[in-house]
Amino acid sequence: MATVVSLEARERATQPAVGAATPTRLALLGLGQVGSAVARLAPAVSPQLERSLHITGALVRDVLRRRACDVTVTNDARSLLDDRPDVVVEALGGLEPARSLALDAIERGIPVVTANKSVVAAHGDELLDAAARRGVPFRYEASVIAGVPFLCTFARRPIAAGVTQIAGIVNGTSHFVLSRIQTGSTYADALAEAQRRGFAEPDPSKDIEGGDAAEKLAILLRHFGRLRVRPSDIETSGIGSITPADLTQAAVFGATIKPVAFADWTGSHTPAAFVGPALVPAGHPLAGLRGVTNGICLRGPVCGTLVFSGPGAGPEVTAATLLDDVVEALADRCEPREFEIATSCRPEAPRGLGWFVRLRSAGRLPEAVDVADLLASHDVWCSRTSSTTTADGCESRWLQTHPCSEGRATAALDALRIGASCDLWRIPVLETIDAE
Ligand SMILES: NC(=O)c1ccc[n+]([C@@H]2O[C@H](COP(=O)([O-])OP(=O)(O)OC[C@H]3O[C@@H](n4cnc5c(N)ncnc54)[C@H](OP(=O)(O)O)[C@@H]3O)[C@@H](O)[C@H]2O)c1
Repeated sequence: MATVVSLEARERATQPAVGAATPTRLALLGLGQVGSAVARLAPAVSPQLERSLHITGALVRDVLRRRACDVTVTNDARSLLDDRPDVVVEALGGLEPARSLALDAIERGIPVVTANKSVVAAHGDELLDAAARRGVPFRYEASVIAGVPFLCTFARRPIAAGVTQIAGIVNGTSHFVLSRIQTGSTYADALAEAQRRGFAEPDPSKDIEGGDAAEKLAILLRHFGRLRVRPSDIETSGIGSITPADLTQAAVFGATIKPVAFADWTGSHTPAAFVGPALVPAGHPLAGLRGVTNGICLRGPVCGTLVFSGPGAGPEVTAATLLDDVVEALADRCEPREFEIATSCRPEAPRGLGWFVRLRSAGRLPEAVDVADLLASHDVWCSRTSSTTTADGCESRWLQTHPCSEGRATAALDALRIGASCDLWRIPVLETIDAE
């Protein structure tokens, strides 16, 4: 059970016996799922890291609650920082007090590592700027696809990377739900299963509606493109409108539907970006991923196509990445320098992608050839059309277009909606990436 005592007294009593070297002292901000996993993992990985890790204490809201791990808890953040830990591990979540405490630690010269995508997406510039001025590491590998260390890889290889396009599955909850619908579950059953198995929050709206993925995409845009984008400026849609029939039809078209975060800034300082479901051709590296697995496909003129995949979340993998960041931060004491402020911009709608469209009508749908002609009159060209299906008294048909601008697609589909008096739903189509 956790206890509330003076941190100094507690620390003297619990100094680890192992290791001749002075232990590395970690202060935890948060002792929830991630913070507790850090506390559990720290002693186990000490030999592997060749240094003993000692948790000086953890900031929590409720100091009276029984805790599964034996860590001193406090609700006095200042005392934790006054105690001068070697590294602060931030796993509070949300914007405040996470931002203020991370800044306070940095100003005191204490390195900070975080798993908190919200604070990195919203205040990353401010935190990185403070860290650069003070010459203090600030690391956030665990904030995006926590189990796959790809951000640090590119931080060290900026020229080789030169990334100008990102396509990723960065939210495990929505990916799990879609994968389950694909194998026959209803949306409600799939979501309930995700919650039962701990893959979804009690309120899963941020995952399902794309808010979580938009925060991660904003972090990736700053990391790879030096582009500062507000998550709320990214066009975002959720997976709630996808039906089993859409997934069946996607398979007939040799593709699948995935919850995607996409941005492309090739030749432009204004990225085209979206978060939402997209049709992914079977040959695309993201198409074969299933369940809660995350994946990221990075493309650039020099690096070509690079693909990373693995667990995106889970307390244990997140804790492991945070502890790796601790080690990196300790090795990485940097000189004070200027932080290169990223360019602020508002992303555009996706450009140059095809569209997967569902037409649905309570009456009769127009003939496929008439639909294709109408779209062609707006310079939008169909590449595939399904046969018509009838269910619940409604006719449905799906089509796929060749790549065109979002504006052209909107004009053509608006004309179709009015001309054919039908409901239309559409999602972008990711480009095929051929194996080389
Ligand atoms: N869970 C994952 O698999 C995962 C994966 C990757 C990244 N992350 C990120 O890691 C962070 C932590 O996630 P989590 O799942 O561990 O969250 P959590 O279980 O809700 O834990 C949050 C912890 O922070 C403490 N806390 C929150 N607000 C506080 C405040 N104002 N003052 C003092 N203490 C406060 C809570 O105290 P009490 O215990 O007293 O409530 C709790 O110990 C989030 O940013 C999340 O996005 C999580």
